Amino acid sequence: MNGKSMATQPAAAEAPRSGTTPVLEVRDISKNFEAVRALDGVSVAVHPGEVLGLVGDNGAGKSTLIKIISGVYQPDEGEILMDGRTLAMSTPHEARERGIETVYQHLALVNQLRVDGNLYLGREPNRFGFLGDLFQILDTPLMKAKTKEVMARLHIRIPGLESEPVHRMSGGQRQAAAIARAVHWGSKLLLLDEPTAALGAEQSAEVQRIIRRTCDSGIPAIVISHNLEHVFQVCDRIVVLRLGRKVLDCRADATSPDEVVAYITGSRGAVGHA
Ligand SMILES: Nc1ncnc2c1ncn2[C@@H]1O[C@H](COP(=O)(O)OP(=O)(O)OP(=O)(O)O)[C@@H](O)[C@H]1O
Ligand SMILES: [Mg+2]
Repeated sequence: MNGKSMATQPAAAEAPRSGTTPVLEVRDISKNFEAVRALDGVSVAVHPGEVLGLVGDNGAGKSTLIKIISGVYQPDEGEILMDGRTLAMSTPHEARERGIETVYQHLALVNQLRVDGNLYLGREPNRFGFLGDLFQILDTPLMKAKTKEVMARLHIRIPGLESEPVHRMSGGQRQAAAIARAVHWGSKLLLLDEPTAALGAEQSAEVQRIIRRTCDSGIPAIVISHNLEHVFQVCDRIVVLRLGRKVLDCRADATSPDEVVAYITGSRGAVGHA
């Protein structure tokens, strides 16, 4: 026992960044789906520039937690705080307005559109046409220029970026486009639900670099992944959920893949096994 288990020593686990106000914090969040207790008193804090890895077995509650932070679900109990202030978010739109952007487990891109169309989906800028605001037209040049800008900032190279719809792109390129959209709008926090699940090794590495670059620029992220190698490569801190409860919360460099697996499977951290 190295003292990192939330099940036994919560104060020690939260200690590393106690001096800074978290960008986002959830406190004692619980969520039931009828008889299923998907989350049970979960508290997590994300600090500026931090990549937080959220891991756990299938059904542990990871996506539910992300959906609560992104306004898709309402918690039954607990509170959400941004910059230390309580937030009430009843829709994903409200979360996005507050700068919380999500890349969902199942990608939400419109295949028929180009990357710039997807980047601005639902938030398309207009410019004045020939007769002023009587004939506002879609500001495609602005959309294209901003898309190129964000892709360059993240070092994402996609052939045919300005001409091809996303269904012609590879899984990795589409994932990169989805992350670029989140980075473009997510001024406060990025939520990524299994961003590398469908990708090959090279594309996964590229997506991880993109996540790291974004967070190094100050915007924190919560990343869900089943791939512990990826988690240890990109994350500063690791939170393990098991059966809806937080069983580990510690710095990545203070734990090991073996220890994290033990918490995921319940051979450590469970009542009577600490
Ligand atoms: N909309 C829903 N209705 C009913 N039950 C749900 C709903 N969403 C999630 N659950 C249940 O809540 C629990 C947690 O699900 P969740 O999707 O958060 O798990 P997860 O950790 O993301 O799993 P995975 O790794 O398989 O994606 C599961 O038992 C799941 O069946
Ligand atoms: Mg999930």
